[in-house]
Amino acid sequence: MISKSTVDLVFETARLEEVIGDFVQLKKSGSNFKGLSPFSNEKTPSFMVSPAKQIWKDFSSGKGGNVVSFLMEHEHFTFPEAIKFLAKKYNIEVEETQQTNEQKEAASLRESMYSVTDFAQSYFSKMLTESQEGKNIGLSYFQERGFTAESIDRFHLGYSPDQWDALTKAALDAGFQEEFLVSSGLTIQKEEKQFDRFKGRVMFPIHSMSGRVMGFGGRILKQDKQAAKYVNSPESEVYQKSKVLYGLYQAKQHIAKQSNCYLVEGYTDVIQMHQAGIQNVVSSSGTALTPDQVRLIRRLTDTITLLFDGDAAGLRAAMRGVDIILEAGMQVSICTFPDGEDPDSFVRNHQLTEVKQFLENNTVDFIQFKAKLLAEEGKNEPIRKAETIREIVQSISIVPDAIRREVYIQSCASLMNISEDVLFSTLAQLLQKKGQQASQARKLSEMKVVNVPKQKVDPRFELERNIISLLLLYGQEEVSFEDVVMQSDEEGKIVHTPTEISAKVYEKIYLDLQQDEVELSTQSFRELYHSLLSIYNAQKPLVMETFLQELSPEQSELVSSIIMNDENNVLHDWERKNIVIKDKKTEIGRWLQQTILNLRCLLIQEKIGELQNQTAESHIETHREILEEVNDYVGLKKNLSKRLDRVIF
Ligand code: CTP
Ligand code: MN
Repeated sequence: MISKSTVDLVFETARLEEVIGDFVQLKKSGSNFKGLSPFSNEKTPSFMVSPAKQIWKDFSSGKGGNVVSFLMEHEHFTFPEAIKFLAKKYNIEVEETQQTNEQKEAASLRESMYSVTDFAQSYFSKMLTESQEGKNIGLSYFQERGFTAESIDRFHLGYSPDQWDALTKAALDAGFQEEFLVSSGLTIQKEEKQFDRFKGRVMFPIHSMSGRVMGFGGRILKQDKQAAKYVNSPESEVYQKSKVLYGLYQAKQHIAKQSNCYLVEGYTDVIQMHQAGIQNVVSSSGTALTPDQVRLIRRLTDTITLLFDGDAAGLRAAMRGVDIILEAGMQVSICTFPDGEDPDSFVRNHQLTEVKQFLENNTVDFIQFKAKLLAEEGKNEPIRKAETIREIVQSISIVPDAIRREVYIQSCASLMNISEDVLFSTLAQLLQKKGQQASQARKLSEMKVVNVPKQKVDPRFELERNIISLLLLYGQEEVSFEDVVMQSDEEGKIVHTPTEISAKVYEKIYLDLQQDEVELSTQSFRELYHSLLSIYNAQKPLVMETFLQELSPEQSELVSSIIMNDENNVLHDWERKNIVIKDKKTEIGRWLQQTILNLRCLLIQEKIGELQNQTAESHIETHREILEEVNDYVGLKKNLSKRLDRVIF
């Protein structure tokens, strides 16, 4: 783990506007910066950065947060990766805590291997573009394949000289240890001798999601039936082929932005498509797709489109891929290329618009894909049709989400022209067989129409959000408002007198909620509420930068959205519309009072509802009592409504 002091130092040092400025073009706008959202394809800028508060907000996608959450969203880093990235940018030494000696050793082994692979990558690049042999053989090969200099640069392609130990020697001369050359697979040790694994090949470095070189693929240039076309790095501490996707580093932002990931078979397919302008592409590099690879993509999008050769091997690979993707709860479509073509050749021989058109016309969902494939094999025999349907339902049964399964069943029914009932019962059987709960399966077979509840604004949620907004924006502000105080008059009767009271926002909220024994019902609101109160209670100022650090991504999104919404309104809407705003602070008191009274009304209404339900089931005697209680509550509500009328403006 990274030590708390390193994390703190990183947060103190990093300037949000500088970090984001490396990825997004920002323009000054009042006290903020703004730019085009990096998360959507918008044309008018709605991406805001506040240097004063060190938070950002993207109004087109609703995302927002601090410097680390930006890197997590944009670069798809994990938290430690983001901290390390910033530490590197600002020359901060990363201090690790709680590491056992073994962990320390493993980490330093990995670091040593990375520095060797990093060296090798630079060496191969240099050989490609600077050595005579590299230019004559490697570079001319890439050029023949139609790779531009920009692609060569973007994918860090290289050349490994046709000598027994060129790289090994260069690395040893540069001070790297033999041990790490061997463990990373760049050097093969045979008895006393050392050889370069990739001798005389053009090199495709394989990057991790955060851009480190984990391994290589090397393609042979000679026509040699004996030697393998590609040689890849062996499995090691830093390279596990089931967990890498070629091109992911270069494609990740595009995948997230397009909400789709194309999956192709080879290195050259990725590069060629990228070069043509389709950049959301990765390759599983000759291995069958694995669940770990699918999980990498799921960090970016939940939709994968498989691009495969139309030959038998390609189709089988696609079939296997489909189930693995469905099992991960993701959506999958398939596009097959004409026989004898792969994405590489197809893209080279067509214009971008033609390629896009082809993809659009030939991409089908997995149900259509399976139906077509199996139908072609079986040529309409009824028995084959039954088998095909079973095959499709089999794939549907893998999908974890019940509603999605149901949508697929409906689509299969209409495509195969068979009743949904039959499909549902087949599905139920399969689910039962798979050991899933029988009740769930039965429910499914009974369920025919999906009733996805429409998204409604939940009034309680809105009011609770208001409370958090008030605390965040004006927590320590002293405001005055009208409250009702109970007093006794000369005759000793209790009277309610409206009185002007002044208090701090947080105190008023705390006391009122406590008096009503109200806990906020949404967990992240509740947590924010308690942390804000403990800051204010300790008479500490609310420092946004440090406060945001402690929050979950969901909470920090909420907080920045509240704060930036406010800024955005003030800066843009009101200013633009030339409306003279009354000083907002004079209205805080009213907003506060209104929120709390409304929340009370709502809770009372809930209480009344509960009691009324009880009367339906209760005995005559208790019935009366309950009705009296209901009456009390109704009276209370009337009172509240009267007071509310006064504060509503
Ligand atoms: N592959 C491999 N080892 C091999 C053959 C293939 O690792 N001996 C992997 C490579 O990642 C390769 C992918 O499988 O990119 C697809 O193989 P193939 O279609 O044969 O290669 P292409 O990438 O199309 O290469 P080229 O067009 O240069 O023949
Ligand atoms: Mn090829």
